Amino acid sequence: MLHGFWLDQTGIDGAYLPLPVRPEHIEQALRALPILGFRGCNLTSPHKQAALSVVDYIDPLARRIGAVNTIVVGPDGSLEGRNTDAFGFRANLAEGVPNWDPTEGPAVILGAGGAARAVVGALTDIGVSEIRIVNRTSARAEAVASDLAMSKTRITIHSWEEVGAALCQAGLLVNATSLGMAGEPPLMLDLSVLPLSAPVVDIVYVPLETDLLAAARQRGHPVVDGLGMLLHQGRPGFEAWFGPPVQVTHELRAAVLATLTSAR
Ligand code: ATR
Repeated sequence: MLHGFWLDQTGIDGAYLPLPVRPEHIEQALRALPILGFRGCNLTSPHKQAALSVVDYIDPLARRIGAVNTIVVGPDGSLEGRNTDAFGFRANLAEGVPNWDPTEGPAVILGAGGAARAVVGALTDIGVSEIRIVNRTSARAEAVASDLAMSKTRITIHSWEEVGAALCQAGLLVNATSLGMAGEPPLMLDLSVLPLSAPVVDIVYVPLETDLLAAARQRGHPVVDGLGMLLHQGRPGFEAWFGPPVQVTHELRAAVLATLTSAR
């Protein structure tokens, strides 16, 4: 839907296809891309990590995040692995809260999975001075901290029991867990200690307005839903594959939203 929209808009004679590939075939499938005339592809679970050991070049951010979601086929048939999820998060944040100041306070990230790694990658790139990761499995949070730490950013690890303390004086809250997603357990959080100036971001986009965002909106926080991250992460891939710059317009957002709603 997303790439089809941009192909139509730019008048490019191309197609974006879903290709189910078994994990044991990922290397053969990726090596076939240049032979079959593909400019590249996106990868989703469970291929994002496995692709790291297949591609010829890895973008430094994709290496830090530990996941490849976009592959660009070079003119010589080589494969370059990138991660555009961090870009998507950053662009969505910039669009949703353009006046947000990353120096305003620590950023609290709920989760330490693949999505959280991209969020932490984005926030360390922006230069947030402190990131507080709250996760059920502390070993995963520790791995994020050691893989993604930058000299300018301190990353600390917290259990769910400590979430209230983590939210104190925070300048941003991001849910990067699957909690609150349709079919998953709810995310129960007391926001009363979070400063009202702190934006609340959810990377979940089904439903678009999660309970977390509804509660945050009611308290008066700026809120940013997760659909924009999904849409913006597609831009660098499209631009690398086909050339012309593309935008996330209201029309595109409405079209994708209508597809998501009718799919439910
Ligand atoms: P993704 O790649 O989409 O981020 P993931 O790697 O499976 O998906 O990560 C899911 C995140 O949601 C993790 O942080 C996970 O916590 P654990 O690392 O402890 O597994 C979190 N999560 C999922 N279900 C949860 C639950 N019921 N309670 C608490 N955290 C949960």
